[in-house]
Order: sequence, then C-alpha cells, then structure tokens
Amino acid sequence: MEQELRQLESEAAEKLSSLKTLQDLEDVRIRYLGRKGLFTGLLRQLGSVSPEERPRLGKVANQIKEGLEKKFHARKAELAAAAETGPGSDDLSLPGRVIPAGRIHPVSQIMDEVCSIFVDLGFAVAEGPDVELDYYNFEALNIPQHHPARDMHDTFYISDSILLRTHTSPMQIRAMEMAKPPLRIIAPGKVYRCDSDITHTPMFHQVEGFLVDTKVSFADLKGVLTVFCQKMFDQKDIGLRFRPSFFPFTEPSAEVDIGCVICRGEGCRVCKQTGWLEILGAGMIDPEVLKMVDYDPEEFSGFAFGLGIERIAMLKYGIDDIRLFYENDLRFLNQF
Ligand code: DAH
Repeated sequence: MEQELRQLESEAAEKLSSLKTLQDLEDVRIRYLGRKGLFTGLLRQLGSVSPEERPRLGKVANQIKEGLEKKFHARKAELAAAAETGPGSDDLSLPGRVIPAGRIHPVSQIMDEVCSIFVDLGFAVAEGPDVELDYYNFEALNIPQHHPARDMHDTFYISDSILLRTHTSPMQIRAMEMAKPPLRIIAPGKVYRCDSDITHTPMFHQVEGFLVDTKVSFADLKGVLTVFCQKMFDQKDIGLRFRPSFFPFTEPSAEVDIGCVICRGEGCRVCKQTGWLEILGAGMIDPEVLKMVDYDPEEFSGFAFGLGIERIAMLKYGIDDIRLFYENDLRFLNQF
C-alpha cells in the first residue's frame, strides 16, 4: 500500500507541474484530493491494513497528503499570477488604472498666471528675501518705528532689525536701489503675518507690482489693473472700483474692488450682498519713498500695487476657507 501511495504522489506531482491553467489545476485537485478522489480512496483502505502497520502507514499517508496540498496551493498562486499578466489576460472592460501624477498647487498656478499676465504687459519679475530687514519692510516704505500702520502687520520679528517680511512691498525699495527708471517690475513671493483664521494663514503669497518713469499717472495705474483683471477673471466687461484708502508708501492710495465674479453684481454670499469684491491695494508711489532711493520726485513718478494670491484663488474658485490650501487634502488639491 505504501508503494501505491508513493506512486500516486509522484503522479500527482508531475501533473501539477505540467498543467497550465487554473481549470486543469482544479481537475487535478478533484482527481487526487477530492472527496471521491484517488488519494481519499486509498486512505479508506487503511482500515483493512493490519493493526501493527496501520499507524505507520497512516502517518506516511498524511505526510504525502499535506505535501501535495502545499504543492497545489503554490501552483495555484503561480498560475493566478501568470493569468494576471500573461497573454490574453487583458480585460478591456475593466476601468483603467489611474497613474498617480503630481500637479501644480492651485496657489502656484494662480501665481504663474498673474506673473504671466504682467510679463505680457512688459513687466520684469524680481524676487527678494523672505527674511527681511526692518529697514526695507517698514522704514524705507515710509513706515517709521512707532507708526500706527505697523499695527496692521502682525509681524514675526527675528531680532529688533530683522523680521519675516509682512508684504512684498520691500521689493520696491530693493529694485529701485539697484536701477534707475524706467522700471516695470513685479515681485511675487511668500509673506508672513502672525494671524490665523478662515481668511488668514501665517504664511501667504503676494505679488507686488510697480512702475516708475517720467509722467506716470493714476490713469496708467487704472489701465494696467483693468487689463489685468479682465485677463485674470476672463471677463472683458469686468467692473473695477477704486476706493480712496491709505497706505504710507502711496499717495493717493486706493483699494480696488472688482464686480463680484460669482454673482456678477447681483449680490451673493461671497460678496456679502454688495456685488463687489476687494482684490488689491494700490496707489501712486509716495514722493518720500522715491527720495529714500535717491530718485528725484520732481522728475519721476510711479504707481504700485499689491495683491494677495490666495485671495484671488479663493475668488476665482469660490473657496471660502483659506486653510484648505495648506492642509494638503488630496480631495481638495485634485480639483485643480
Ligand atoms: N503692501 C500692502 C499690504 O500688504 C499692499 C499694497 C497696498 C501694496 C498698496 C502696494 C500698494 O504696492 O500700493 O497690505
């Protein structure tokens, strides 16, 4: 009987290694290991073996059975893997596998868009340091120590004279120190304020723009900003409103609103029923600032503006919580 068992074992093993499909494998399993299979049939005969032989033969039979079962499972895994990748395995009705691809962050996308509109208008791009001197961030922009305007900027100080820039306006000074007019520059970058709620994050992005030349007027500023808003919001007839305001480095100063891009002026939640959205600050560069960089205010004049990138992205896409940009939730980011 032992010989018969071994015979079945080698026969089954040979079949296992030569068969090629999962169906054949199942047939072999049923033939040898199934309830009515050859192997099971032999085991039934154990009852007729002499009582002295029975324990030893039983053990051998069990070992052979377990060995075969192991081989069977290994072969099954092999065939299954081959079926997934082998020829003819393509199921054209299955949905395609999504290849994970990175994409550009919405803030960077808007930043690139803003820059490219101004580059088309003849502006050059300049970048400056995030860690800035008090002098460039405040002093030279006509915001001396103890000036109340400093309160508007919740500044992260590194030392008495070094800080994280609270706006991109210091680039006006850095650029003007390095060159003589005419100057047409935009300065994109990160800015920092000690502030955090649904419309403020401690770090956000601004783009500063300024132009200095002879005979620059407020009309030039209006023209440039109108073209920018038309292109940015893809709306030829977009309304612009200049409200008088105050910034220490511009005189006169204005806050600029656009007709609400969500409701087109009808009044909605985003524009708080006013039909207008504030998008930037701007003005004519204050003569005091020009003097700081040794430009003669009698000869030169200029305009400047500063806009918040997150704010533009929020308006453009109707997002009501700025923190979404920085939580890195792929369900949010995948939409851009
Ligand atoms: N720097 C200002 C801020 O962050 C924004 C600003 C206002 C920039 C008016 C300008 C400007 O260039 O003319 O609040």
